[in-house]
Amino acid sequence: MFSTISSSLLALGTLTSLVSSLVIPGITPPSQSQPDPLLSIYGPLPVTATINSTFAVVPISLSEARERIPSQYGILTAAYQALLPGWPSDMYPLIVTIGLEHDIHGFLIDIPDFTSFRISYPFVDLLNDNHTSFLYSPFEFMNVSPVGVLGLDVYGVSTFLATNNPPSDPYAYISASHSPAPGEVFSNWNSLALGETNFPTASMKLTPSGTTDIPWNFVRNVTNQPFTGNGLICDNQIRIFNTSLTAAPYDPVPVTGTVYLNSILSDQKVNTNNAKGWLFAAAFLENNFIPCGLLQGYSGTGSGDSQ
Ligand SMILES: *[C@@H]1O[C@H](CO)[C@@H](O)[C@H](O)[C@H]1NC(C)=O
Ligand SMILES: *[C@@H]1O[C@H](CO)[C@@H](O)[C@H](O)[C@H]1NC(C)=O
Ligand SMILES: *[C@@H]1O[C@H](CO)[C@@H](O)[C@H](O)[C@H]1NC(C)=O
Ligand SMILES: *[C@@H]1O[C@H](CO)[C@@H](O)[C@H](O)[C@H]1NC(C)=O
Repeated sequence: MFSTISSSLLALGTLTSLVSSLVIPGITPPSQSQPDPLLSIYGPLPVTATINSTFAVVPISLSEARERIPSQYGILTAAYQALLPGWPSDMYPLIVTIGLEHDIHGFLIDIPDFTSFRISYPFVDLLNDNHTSFLYSPFEFMNVSPVGVLGLDVYGVSTFLATNNPPSDPYAYISASHSPAPGEVFSNWNSLALGETNFPTASMKLTPSGTTDIPWNFVRNVTNQPFTGNGLICDNQIRIFNTSLTAAPYDPVPVTGTVYLNSILSDQKVNTNNAKGWLFAAAFLENNFIPCGLLQGYSGTGSGDSQ
């Protein structure tokens, strides 16, 4: 196991140092997000970063989920029902996330910030062991990042370049002078493949809701499931919630709102005004390019990322 992982890391190291010798455009203006708190703990070799994120749960029927998730994989319904008290037994929590990865370090290099808009199916029984939960992530938009796009290809996540607005700090509250809806956060995405139009190909618009029936433990659990788009190679991104990024004055905020995705993949569209979720930031430590089978039984690494 170790040699497979370290040779993958070496391969990516070579790839990323080739890429980093080119001029990689970063996002302008630079993000105001807080620096990666893990750099001083783990050093510059493992991949660590800040992720500043929106996490939206879109309820769909279990039969629709069954059509969207490849039929060879089971769905661990008992696992999500345990984490979502009161959740209707015929519904499934589809997840849409927007994540700004900021101050990214790894392989001794500094990787430019990037943002992605990703659709994911949690609690997928990829190994058919009726136990280990994976995030099946077939599709995403990403703003300019050659490193990110090359990396995601290996996981089989269909990744399309897009522009996003606002570009660098997607979750700032809209001020009264800029919108008739102050207090909202929004993110609009325009696919470069489909051609820029006045209409976003994907968007999220969220308002703080005060309370929510999506427990914080559900967010922690889902974001710590290894993700893959091809069922073969997984990304084990360990979201760590016990750093200064996830504490006052940056406490997670429950939100509700709309999610729209006009995906290039015809079976991966979303259009709802009934999304519920959270805005939050966290730190992460990432093990890239792991054969998914090696993650059988994975249940986190400690109190900062799992129960
Ligand atoms: C996350 O981003 C928002 C604006 O986009 C910013 O207000 C907030 O401070 C950021 N949080 C952290 C912990 O960096
Ligand atoms: C799978 O696990 C669930 C919940 O733990 C259990 O109810 C079910 O019987 C199991 N299915 C099989 C085929 O073992
Ligand atoms: C997520 O929840 C499931 C079901 O309770 C549990 O088996 C698994 O270990 C949890 N994973 C993490 C990373 O906490
Ligand atoms: C923070 O979380 C990490 C990862 O789960 C864990 O190893 C560490 O012990 C935690 N630190 C504290 C102070 O709880």
